[in-house]
Amino acid sequence: MTIERNVFSTKDKLAQALADAVAENLNAGLDERGEASLAVSGGSTPKRFFQVLGARDDIDWENVTVTLVDERWVDESSDRSNARLVKENLLTGSAAAAKFVPLYAGTEEPDASGIAQANGAVAQVPVPFDAVILGMGNDGHTASFFPGGDALEEALNAEGPVVAIRAPGAGEPRVTFTLARLLQTRALYLHIEGEEKAQVLDKALETGPVETMPVRAVLSQSHIPVSLYWCP
Ligand code: 6PG
Repeated sequence: MTIERNVFSTKDKLAQALADAVAENLNAGLDERGEASLAVSGGSTPKRFFQVLGARDDIDWENVTVTLVDERWVDESSDRSNARLVKENLLTGSAAAAKFVPLYAGTEEPDASGIAQANGAVAQVPVPFDAVILGMGNDGHTASFFPGGDALEEALNAEGPVVAIRAPGAGEPRVTFTLARLLQTRALYLHIEGEEKAQVLDKALETGPVETMPVRAVLSQSHIPVSLYWCP
C-alpha cells in the first residue's frame, strides 16, 4: 500500500494545493494526447477545491472532460445532485468551457436501461483519467462503495465502467464507476477533512475486511499510489 500524505493547516491551503496538483495532471494529459479527463466526487468536502480549480485559466478547458466518480440517482434540480454541485462550483469561470459527462440518466431507477445509458455516456470520457479525486464517508465508503451495498462486490471486482448500487447508508440509489475504472488514472487523490475522518482513515488502514470499510479496497491496491490531501 502506498500513501503519500499531504497535510495542510487550512481548508484554503488544501484547496489551492490540490488544484495545483490536478491542474498539472490535466496539463500533462493535454500535452500528451490533446485532451484530458477528470473524475470528481460529490458530497460537501470538494466545494472549495472546485471553486479554486474552476477559476484557473492555465488549463485548456475546452479539451477537458469532467465526470463524477459516483452520483446519487436524482435529477439535477435536487440539492443532492452531484452534477449540480459540479456545475455550480467547478464548471464556472474558465472551467465552464469543459465538457461534462453526467452519470444520472433520468430513468426512475438506475435500472438496466438507465445503467446502459450511463455506460454509453461515459464511453465519451477519455481513458485513462488524468486525475480521480475520491472522498470518504465516516462509515468507510468511498465513491459509492458502501458497506452493505447490494452490488458492492460487482463495484469492487467488475470492469464496469459503471454499476448501480443501493445501500442502507446511501440515501437514494446510486451509480458508481467501478474500482477497476477509477484506478485507470494518472493520479489518484483521497481528499478528506477533519479529525473524525482522520480517525476513520486510521481505522481503514488497519487490516480488516473490505466489506465493512470499502475504502480499504483503494488503500490496499498496488496499481496506483494514493495521494492523501487532509486538513483539520
Ligand atoms: C457522494 C460521494 C461520496 C463522498 C463521501 C464524502 O456522492 O456522496 O461522491 O463518496 O465523497 O460521502 O462526502 P462528504 O464530503 O459530504 O463528507
